[in-house]
Amino acid sequence: MPSSRFLASAMTGPLKKLENSNNKNGGLNILEVGPGTGAVTKTIVKLLKPEDRFDLVELNENFANLLKERFQTDSSYQRVNSQSQVHVCPLQDFQTDVEYDIIISGLPLNNFPADLAKEIYERFFQLLKPGGTLSYFEYMYIRAIKKKISGKATREHLIQLEEIIYPYLDESRIKQSWVFLNIPPAWVQHLQKNESTAPS
Ligand SMILES: C[S@@+](CC[C@H](N)C(=O)[O-])C[C@H]1O[C@@H](n2cnc3c(N)ncnc32)[C@H](O)[C@@H]1O
Repeated sequence: MPSSRFLASAMTGPLKKLENSNNKNGGLNILEVGPGTGAVTKTIVKLLKPEDRFDLVELNENFANLLKERFQTDSSYQRVNSQSQVHVCPLQDFQTDVEYDIIISGLPLNNFPADLAKEIYERFFQLLKPGGTLSYFEYMYIRAIKKKISGKATREHLIQLEEIIYPYLDESRIKQSWVFLNIPPAWVQHLQKNESTAPS
């Protein structure tokens, strides 16, 4: 199921806050990872200011082409077309010199092999500016439920994931949003890169 507008609103909370801040110094660099069919993208594009830069990294070529077309043809996307770029590749292969103020991720990290999830968390924090914010969602209690009802291999996988995720949450989480109006209900984790965000 695509994310609901309530989940999209929670995912873009830090972006909204920065866009409205008086301390903003120039444009923001914003990265959306795994935009899919654009359920969260449409909220992001509404918030963009002319001086911002917006990159999207999507693995699936069909979704990426759909989004590229939207930037050409849909009026709210056309407004920000010249400052936006859709990159068709996995995040692991995305090359850039840009450091981002905001990363918004729709990647289903709980479904990824532990090694890949680790690589992706590391990449998120390489790509963030110091003080930059990562926002991603996960379905509420999904790991706890799956641990109860699944077999040994899945349980072990989830435990490995938690060993990767928890140090990041402990060091860097600034907020968790609860979104009940989504199918299924979701948490949005907001993490901020700080000096100690480098768990091994
Ligand atoms: C669960 S969908 C999220 C779609 C949308 N953001 C939403 O919230 O409804 C995840 C998206 O991530 C993309 N994806 C999966 N692995 C990826 C990777 N390693 N790098 C970039 N995109 C990836 C998939 O193709 C899919 O479009």
